[in-house]
Amino acid sequence: MSDLPELFEATRDFPDPAAADRYGRLVGLDAVKEILHKEALVRLNLKLLKEWSRKHHGQEIAAVGYFQDRPPLFVFAGDVGTGKTQLAETFGDRLAVDTALPIALRKLTLNARGSGKVGEMTTLISSAFVQVEREARTMIKSEKRTGGIVLLIDEADALAQSRELEQMHHEDRAGVNALIRGVDHIAQEQLPVLVVACTNRLEALDPALLRRAAHTFTFTRPKKEQRKTVLQDALAGLALSSKQIEQLAVATGETDGRKYGATYSDLTQRLVPLAVLDAFPSHPLEFARLMELAQELIPTAPFGSSAG
Ligand SMILES: Nc1ncnc2c1ncn2[C@@H]1O[C@H](COP(=O)(O)OP(=O)(O)OP(=O)(O)O)[C@@H](O)[C@H]1O
Ligand SMILES: [Mg+2]
Repeated sequence: MSDLPELFEATRDFPDPAAADRYGRLVGLDAVKEILHKEALVRLNLKLLKEWSRKHHGQEIAAVGYFQDRPPLFVFAGDVGTGKTQLAETFGDRLAVDTALPIALRKLTLNARGSGKVGEMTTLISSAFVQVEREARTMIKSEKRTGGIVLLIDEADALAQSRELEQMHHEDRAGVNALIRGVDHIAQEQLPVLVVACTNRLEALDPALLRRAAHTFTFTRPKKEQRKTVLQDALAGLALSSKQIEQLAVATGETDGRKYGATYSDLTQRLVPLAVLDAFPSHPLEFARLMELAQELIPTAPFGSSAG
């Protein structure tokens, strides 16, 4: 599948039941999931929109024409640990199931990459687009698409910083430009590719890049109801009452002295595993101890804020 194995750090092919499970467990993102899915559907098959238009308007309305060369870029922006990466890595599964087409994930994580050598980021981005475009061209059979690719550019703030920033290095600009060129190219050729860029810092993204985004989705940390859902899911099998789940959700929320509560990942990757290890190997996991740990949990500070 990959002739340049070092380029993408993760590749995956959908359908994949493990991805379906991870997608299903994402809480508080129903609206985002629906729009993203529709965007992806019509990207792979513009005929769906035309059929819809004919059915409901008796003709192809002008609005459908705007989809023709719409840049296939989606920006996932927002707080840490709120599901950006997980959604980007898994929505391809629903698309594959719904369209009965093979969908591939190709992922680049920018913060983890590059030693800072001049031009390295730019080369990385350009090569990624070249490779994905080549692969995508094999998925076009006249009007039809026989598959699709999700190109995930994770932690894109490492690269796509505002060109307006004075201190920005010349080479970084070249990287942003490579990304913009790639997105434009995919739009022009109408390739079956969806580019997803994840970032914690929407405000630092280049305006020229943001302008191309078909959709910018904002991810936020869970409110109490959402914490309840996550905790219910994560603590299933413990026979906790809904009142106890409520207490845990309150304990992991905002306090008088702190304006933010736990992130999703604070709950799933810190609190719950900590409670399990606390009980393991000699005790059962008990509510009283869970409550103590919940009260002790210090939520991850929002991105860009230094103090709590
Ligand atoms: N909306 C959510 N519902 C349920 N669990 C979630 C949600 N968001 C995040 N999680 C949990 O937190 C973990 C980390 O999420 P993810 O890596 O997607 O965060 P992120 O938004 O990409 O964060 P970062 O900005 O730090 O990269 C997930 O594997 C999952 O366990
Ligand atoms: Mg992430």
